Amino acid sequence: MSIPHTFVQELLARADVVDIVGRHVQLKKSGANFMGLCPFHSEKSPSFSVSPSKQFYHCFGCGKSGDALNFLMEHTGASFVEAVQDLAQQFGMRVPEDDASPQDRARAAEQRKKQTTLTEVLEKAALAYQKHLKNSPRAASYFKGRGVTGQVAKQFGLGYAPEGWHALAGAFADYDDPLLEESGLVILGEEKDGQSHRYDRFRDRVMFPIRNVKGECIGFGGRVLGDDKPKYLNSPETPVFSKGRELYGLFEARNAIRDEGFALVTEGYMDVVALAQLGFPNAVATLGTACTPDHVHKLFRFTDAVIFSFDGDSAGRRAARKALDAALPLATDVRSVKFLFLPPEHDPDSFIREHGKEAFARFVSESVPLSQFLIDAARDGCDLQTAEGRARFASNAKPLWEVMPAGALKQQLLSEIADLVQLSNRELLEVWQHAPARGSRNSAAKPVTKDAEPPVWNEGPRPRKAKQSNRPNSRLPAARADHAARILLGNMAAFDTLTNEDLALLCGLEAPHGPLFVWLQAQYHEHGVQPWGALRAGLAELASQTYALQLMSGLEMLDNNTDIPGEQSAEAKDELRQLLNRMLVEQLKINETAAIQAAKTDPCALLRYREFQTRRMALEATGPVPQATGGV
Ligand code: GTP
Ligand code: MN
Repeated sequence: MSIPHTFVQELLARADVVDIVGRHVQLKKSGANFMGLCPFHSEKSPSFSVSPSKQFYHCFGCGKSGDALNFLMEHTGASFVEAVQDLAQQFGMRVPEDDASPQDRARAAEQRKKQTTLTEVLEKAALAYQKHLKNSPRAASYFKGRGVTGQVAKQFGLGYAPEGWHALAGAFADYDDPLLEESGLVILGEEKDGQSHRYDRFRDRVMFPIRNVKGECIGFGGRVLGDDKPKYLNSPETPVFSKGRELYGLFEARNAIRDEGFALVTEGYMDVVALAQLGFPNAVATLGTACTPDHVHKLFRFTDAVIFSFDGDSAGRRAARKALDAALPLATDVRSVKFLFLPPEHDPDSFIREHGKEAFARFVSESVPLSQFLIDAARDGCDLQTAEGRARFASNAKPLWEVMPAGALKQQLLSEIADLVQLSNRELLEVWQHAPARGSRNSAAKPVTKDAEPPVWNEGPRPRKAKQSNRPNSRLPAARADHAARILLGNMAAFDTLTNEDLALLCGLEAPHGPLFVWLQAQYHEHGVQPWGALRAGLAELASQTYALQLMSGLEMLDNNTDIPGEQSAEAKDELRQLLNRMLVEQLKINETAAIQAAKTDPCALLRYREFQTRRMALEATGPVPQATGGV
């Protein structure tokens, strides 16, 4: 989008830099100018000066200077266009866009207005939650028990959503306001006697407000105080909140990121809070999703150096791989991307509380550069002592290397990979050029638990689109899957009995079953147990909708009250367990047959066959399992 220069001039003529800066920095008149503490570096005495006559700011400490637009860009990480739009909106001016139709412009204006309204609603809720925290000894002692000081709680605006279905009615005069629903604070449940049934999404949870870079509240994460599941609930995607783009703590961390010269990316809310409190105010977290290129791009607006910190367990390593994929296309020569791995039993919160700042700083200083992590990731499972292992390594490295931007780093990596596979650079490039595209291998005979990735909630911003359809667990009797779907749709509480193996099986089924289970599982992790009525409302986005509605229509609901199911769920859980054991056994038999077939050409298949067989026999030993025949 190109914005005419004259418009920018006009905008700057209207905006008063003292006013704009004054909203973010406390300014004091000093002679002809205004002085304050510089927002771009840490200082105790003011060296940041704003001149009303020159319409310019300048810091004598760090040298940053510019006009009102520069300030907005520096301070909020906005792009030039965003800063212009932001400022124009404040003056009710319309940004002339050469390439936008009047309808588009009207829509954009409408959208911006809606966004402002939503953030206001969310901010109001955040204040209410903060107040509740002060009045709830239980919630306050939860934070205290985790070592959170009052000061850092205040900085992050931590709060508490009280028990009860309509606690927010205390903060909003009109509880039926549709904005409460649109902002994700209130859930619209099943209709009953023509009355819609609304209730608070967050109940009896400690609350972490999520802010955008402007400091506006755009959503929440809420944690249970005990061991209930799901442990965290996040706001749903709304016009102001997108998990794939936002980072928790970025607003609070942005100046520290500039001061420290790098951003530290963690996986959890509590990690950010603990790190800020104990000496790493430059930490942010993804919001229960895998790291996306959008996340990385956003961070690079503030710094050239990003360090990803991951828990030392296998989930942490998987998450690190996702972060590597997200960062590779942005890894230019002027940027630095590193990976830090904590000991297996720790996350940053537990580590820094147990071992202290210096120990954590040591891990930071020893973090692994992207180039090394790329090689490690590609080498995983390859024996470089053998020609086969080296060939496989080269093939693993290809897609990683290819997405990197051209430059010296990419060139050096090429040499390094070539050395490891004992080829010249040119030979390696030739091999790569002629290699068949990936993903064309037949994976039918692979173990179901490893092949069908468990669709964990942190797979991406929109788990309902999880990639599972290309490797379905086919040929299982559909009736069993129908039955399992009916149980889970009617009684989501049964989810907490499912193992990763169960989930991999269900989510790997062919459409319409598989995608429905993927969606349902994401719903469970995002929003916890919901009644069928609430689920039905959300089904609209799903291709399997018709199927789910058919399944549930005319059926006496397993749980037909409009509240959260629970009591009747024990029976449903038993039934589901038995059903799943049967399905698992059936799937394992299919896998066994495929493995035996594959063993003719692939000696490893025999090992897989034994693995399936052992697992199947263990399952069969847990209870009587009838032969697989269509019925349930
Ligand atoms: P604490 O137990 O409070 O220390 O949390 P943690 O951050 O150590 O938890 P964990 O490592 O299990 O999860 C990391 C992040 O993933 C959390 O901060 C959440 O953002 C997200 N998360 C964890 N559990 C759930 C869940 O059940 N549902 C959803 N939607 N997100 C979750
Ligand atoms: Mn933790």
